[in-house]
Amino acid sequence: MSTILLAGGAGYIGSHTAVELLESGYDVIIADNYSNSCPEVINRVEEITGKSVKAYEVDIKDKEKVDALFSENKIDAVIHFAGLKAVGESVAMPVAYYRNNIDTTLTLLECMEKHGVKNIIFSSSATVYGEENPVPYTEEMKRGTCTNPYGWTKVMMEQILEDAAKADKDLSVVLLRYFNPIGAHVSGKIGEDPQGIPNNLMPYVAQVAVGRREKLTIFGRDYDTPDGTCRRDYIHVTDLAKGHVKAIDYVFGAKGVEIFNLGTGTPYSVTEIVETFENVNNIKINHVYGERRPGDLAESYANADKALKVLGWKTEKTLADMCRDTWNWQKNNPNGYRK
Ligand code: NAD
Ligand code: UFG
Repeated sequence: MSTILLAGGAGYIGSHTAVELLESGYDVIIADNYSNSCPEVINRVEEITGKSVKAYEVDIKDKEKVDALFSENKIDAVIHFAGLKAVGESVAMPVAYYRNNIDTTLTLLECMEKHGVKNIIFSSSATVYGEENPVPYTEEMKRGTCTNPYGWTKVMMEQILEDAAKADKDLSVVLLRYFNPIGAHVSGKIGEDPQGIPNNLMPYVAQVAVGRREKLTIFGRDYDTPDGTCRRDYIHVTDLAKGHVKAIDYVFGAKGVEIFNLGTGTPYSVTEIVETFENVNNIKINHVYGERRPGDLAESYANADKALKVLGWKTEKTLADMCRDTWNWQKNNPNGYRK
């Protein structure tokens, strides 16, 4: 069976992907520096699957250590999740974002080349569609103008991977453009565990529900949308993780670059998220309406046809599932992975 290296695999999306890969019979190696995650994640993944996971504490920028990891293991494909991802922080610390996100990508590509590994899947983002493209987004649209350094790192990394594949005809690259992953594994054992004040909507809602935050501020209600609040394509993290299994199956038989949107194709507004969370979980979310958040687009959602046509993948979970599973994780782990 093939062995998949998950760089940044202890994080939110990586840990859910590890579970789905293990349950599909793949061997998994996780390499993470735990800058935004905890080693406890590895135990939880093993508990859920009953399988063992080889884990390395390593900074993916550290070429010597990554090279050693490739020497010690026969790796068939890499999934590159290792990145810094907080949009606001990237505005304050652009150089750290460019250094971490781009350097990890280059290090992985150099080690892959040296060790003859020809398959890579990259965690990209809907953010690369930028401000110009109309919704719903389709994969052949040109990458747009981003409003922050985080987004630009994704644009640049897509370009780097495309150029690498042009130069090495045996390289197989899949760029997965995620929309808005939320929810948690149905077991409640793994989920999203942001450090400090959450930037993203769903973890903030969950922390209000569990009493860690007093109230949610909904950023803007004067957008040109049905209820005036922004609309996003929220996708259950387990559906997203299953998309990676399909992409791994695909990447082995392919050459060159292929891009897939991973979203549901259906947008929901911030107000709809809050109302669904309240109704499904029978809990009130204290909230107020505030100013728009700089850089937010009114709407972002996928056309998800290509992933269905080419990968045979589509989402299965509903918004109610996403809200229920988020709450199940948060109430069982009020402080995330920390006691
Ligand atoms: P996450 O922060 O939970 O996971 C990223 C993991 O990478 C963390 O465990 C972190 O410790 C690790 N990491 C970061 N830099 C590293 C380095 N130099 N060496 C080793 N490990 C390192 O984030 P996530 O939500 O799981 O996101 C995974 C990927 O998907 C990221 O690249 C992110 O930009 C991308 N993405 C996420 C979203 C989202 O909304 N969550 C949307 C689009 C794209
Ligand atoms: N929101 C609030 N209050 C909050 C947090 C968020 O009202 O406390 C709103 C935002 O204004 C936005 C919606 O909830 O309208 C979703 O916001 P998120 O921060 O959860 O998600 P974004 O769509 O802004 O960002 C996500 C990823 C980024 C990625 C971007 C574009 O987090 O990594 O999608 O793909 F760059």
